[in-house]
Amino acid sequence: MTLINPLRDPRDRRLPRLPEPCALVLFGVTGDLACNKLIPAIYDLANRGLLPPSFALVGFSRRGWTDGEFTKFVRDAAEKGARTPFREEVWNRLAAGMRCVSGSFNDEAFDRLAQALSDLEHTHGIPGNAAFYLSIPPSAFPAVLKQIQRTGMASNEVSGGWRRVVVEKPFGFDQKSARSLNELVDEVFTPAGVFRIDHYLGKETVQNLSVMRFANPLFEGIWNSRFVDSVQITIAENVGIGSRAAFYDGIGAARDVYQNHLLQLLVSTAMEKPVSFNAEAIRSEKLKVLRAVSLPADLRSYAVRGQYEQGWLAGQRVRGYLEEDGVPSDSKTETYAAVRLGVETRRWAGVPFYLRTGKRLPRKVTEIALLFKPASHLPFDATNTTGLGLNQLVVRVQPDEGVTLKFGSKVPGSAMEVRDVAMDVLFGEAFTEALPEAYERLILDVLLGDATLFPSNDEVIESWRIVDPVEDLWSGSAPCRYRAGRWGPPTADEMLARDGRRWRRP
Ligand code: BG6
Repeated sequence: MTLINPLRDPRDRRLPRLPEPCALVLFGVTGDLACNKLIPAIYDLANRGLLPPSFALVGFSRRGWTDGEFTKFVRDAAEKGARTPFREEVWNRLAAGMRCVSGSFNDEAFDRLAQALSDLEHTHGIPGNAAFYLSIPPSAFPAVLKQIQRTGMASNEVSGGWRRVVVEKPFGFDQKSARSLNELVDEVFTPAGVFRIDHYLGKETVQNLSVMRFANPLFEGIWNSRFVDSVQITIAENVGIGSRAAFYDGIGAARDVYQNHLLQLLVSTAMEKPVSFNAEAIRSEKLKVLRAVSLPADLRSYAVRGQYEQGWLAGQRVRGYLEEDGVPSDSKTETYAAVRLGVETRRWAGVPFYLRTGKRLPRKVTEIALLFKPASHLPFDATNTTGLGLNQLVVRVQPDEGVTLKFGSKVPGSAMEVRDVAMDVLFGEAFTEALPEAYERLILDVLLGDATLFPSNDEVIESWRIVDPVEDLWSGSAPCRYRAGRWGPPTADEMLARDGRRWRRP
């Protein structure tokens, strides 16, 4: 049921948009993602007044929990992970809508879940609206989806409200499995009710890329192959895989980060201006970029994979990947991936896009750097310009969210000596508002039914087209080793050196 307030003008920005009364059903409650990100985000939304007064959080757990035990677990996770202050009155309101359905993925437990959802109409005034969040291993998707289908829980008609599903990445293991998963999801839910999540698209700085590019004529003229020499996109993490071996081993950096986050950052950087800022127009532009992405003919030289060995990070000795708990001692899973891609469009032909991601690198940093071509002629003595590098525009996605512009400047003194300087915008200083977490925005969008920040099925399939050849090339081979605390294996530096370039040091 859609309730529209006739007195409300959608253009009015004084009041935030609130979802209709609804339930969020969380599968995988005890997983890392739910504890560290989803539960804190739900609390923060409640604290910011962005959840509807009638809101139920329904946990599906295999631990045999009572409602009380579930509520206690959620409280601990919210207190630990929330970004905004913990307030008892907010918590009490949220806790009043918590339910737990315990059991495994069998008929009996799902019948109880369906019953619990229909009970919410009488107990909480929630008229059938519910989103199912699948924060579970991909291998469990089919069983859960089939149960949701069997019980009629996915049907808008049966429930009398809207029914939506949020599917966490990785969406499939390769293009073929992504297609079958997609067929299954589309068979169960209506296409408009499917939200494939890539949390990078919920990050403020990634959304700001569109604003930078499409609200400011300043950048448009230089955002192309005439001026840009190359683009480097980095998602670096200093953490190792922690307790995630069961998920990570066999998946690796390419499927975990390159197939989704890195490619989405490439798309946000390279896409053309959509005709308007709605889901359909944006998805259509994004898809065009993905379709235009090319792999180098000599892929072997431009796709590097690595695995961290023990080393030192921030003064601490850390274990190698093979010594991590739960990792087989002969694992060939990569924890680092770097590739060179091209974008065959009029704007970008000839500009290499270098993408890299890795764990146990020196620091956590995500950035998109545009490196510009050198001036065609410099009227200064060559000896005076040795301190001049390529001009750079760096979008700092995290941490220190902001933008840096690097360019040459005169060194004060009697000579015309030129050296690089940096001009910085820190969003944290430019605005008084703290940046919300990506999951807050995305969960809210799911409840509002706004798919603008979610990749479409076609995007997912096209991303696998780009990743599958790299995985095929790597299959069976061992990754190069790199010491924890270094910027990846030496072969990654050689890859850029071959093109006469170097990785930026973020
Ligand atoms: C997740 C990956 O999607 O993104 C993790 O599964 C990775 O391996 C994480 O650590 C990085 O996200 P963020 O927001 O911390 O950069």
